[in-house]
Amino acid sequence: MTDSRIALVTGANKGIGREIVAQLAARGMTVLLGARDTERREKAVAEVGGDVRGIALDVTDAASVARAAATIDNEYGRLDVLINNAGITGGVPGEPSQLELARLRLVFETNFFGVLAVTNAMLPLLRRSSSARIVNVSSGVGSLAAMSDPDSPLHAMPASGAYVPSKTALNSLTVQYAKELRPEGILVNAIDPGYCATDLNNHRGFRTAAQGAAPAVALAVIGDDGPSGGFFGDEGTVAW
Ligand SMILES: NC(=O)c1ccc[n+]([C@@H]2O[C@H](COP(=O)([O-])OP(=O)(O)OC[C@H]3O[C@@H](n4cnc5c(N)ncnc54)[C@H](OP(=O)(O)O)[C@@H]3O)[C@@H](O)[C@H]2O)c1
Repeated sequence: MTDSRIALVTGANKGIGREIVAQLAARGMTVLLGARDTERREKAVAEVGGDVRGIALDVTDAASVARAAATIDNEYGRLDVLINNAGITGGVPGEPSQLELARLRLVFETNFFGVLAVTNAMLPLLRRSSSARIVNVSSGVGSLAAMSDPDSPLHAMPASGAYVPSKTALNSLTVQYAKELRPEGILVNAIDPGYCATDLNNHRGFRTAAQGAAPAVALAVIGDDGPSGGFFGDEGTVAW
């Protein structure tokens, strides 16, 4: 049976986002492929196939976010699934002592404030859905438990003052959205895609982008009795 839901994926012209689009479209959903660059967006839409439409969306640009929400309102009148996937690392060096504030701000602008801006702009549309889901693409590196556990492989990672705290903050925001939206039946979760080979890490990851997309898709299609305010990966719950 096909799925008639409408989904929006941010930062979806490549990498994990594009794979999330492909997997949602394969289930029969209408998927809006959000991307800030017209050429990259159109190329991705053509490559993915299925009921996929491009939508201009720079998550750091308030006018772009408002335009995207207005377009979805005019064309569909509602949104069922929002996947906040757009993200950047901020580059190297990443150690807190080496970080210029401008770089830190840009990372948070994209990975944290961008999620808040897009979510709030889309909420009126999500509220018109009978089973709205929000999935925030976080990272295992955002886990304070793993980062501070000497037995975790993440403990040996070089210190990161922008990307890692932005994902920890995103996890916290996820819990707060879940708390606020639970009475309305809107389920909000964070996911860890695992270490995937994408442009984000110069393709050093050992998982494919398609594997990284799978937890996001799983949380996008959970039933009304599914979890909210959780952090999940392939293997189930990820420690905060
Ligand atoms: N790869 C991994 O191992 C890994 C692990 C854990 C979590 N993640 C998370 O997974 C998500 C996707 O990452 P990825 O690995 O697929 O990276 P990627 O291939 O670099 O893709 C990132 C996407 O985000 C978009 N983006 C960046 N800034 C944007 C903005 N201001 N507005 C709209 N789109 C923007 C990029 O668009 P442009 O092409 O226009 O730059 C691109 O489409 C990120 O949130 C990342 O933190 C990745």
